[in-house]
Amino acid sequence: MKKLEVLHFPDPRLRKIAQPVKNFDKDLKNIIDRMFFTMYEEKGIGLAATQVNIHKRIIVIDVSEKKNEKLYLINPEILSLSDDKDSMEEGCLSVPGFYESVERPKKIKILTYDYDGKEIELDAYGLLSTCIQHEIDHLNGKLFVDHISSLKRSRIETKIKKLKKDGLIASRKETPNYKSAV
Ligand code: NI
Repeated sequence: MKKLEVLHFPDPRLRKIAQPVKNFDKDLKNIIDRMFFTMYEEKGIGLAATQVNIHKRIIVIDVSEKKNEKLYLINPEILSLSDDKDSMEEGCLSVPGFYESVERPKKIKILTYDYDGKEIELDAYGLLSTCIQHEIDHLNGKLFVDHISSLKRSRIETKIKKLKKDGLIASRKETPNYKSAV
């Protein structure tokens, strides 16, 4: 299988709003398979279709230690968010090598769909909740750097542009805390 190319901040294509999946067919299953392959290859714990320039509401996640708990979300809708919040260090395959603390609701309840278009309700907390919120942001053209100060964000933008120019983006993936890259 061939890896999909991951777009990097500040690529404007990361700002597109993803469209709902309408056809629950073989193509959808193929996209999800390739997204999982790309996410594992890139050592991420989550990937939204937007990040691989597919503007459909699809997310793949695996927050397990052993990388054997695949979770895919199709057309995820937030049903509720808890009032209590939590801060976590977040990273992103589209912002390689940069980590910042982001505050988000602790718990989330979502509605999602399986391959056959059947509705599923899902409750998540902790890392999975953070990951789901981070990925749904991607589908709405938002990145974790939008949650931090504009000063920090523009510093990251400058550094990424320089890394791209120098052809050093790939080396940023080899980071010890890659587990949090979504
Ligand atoms: Ni991300």
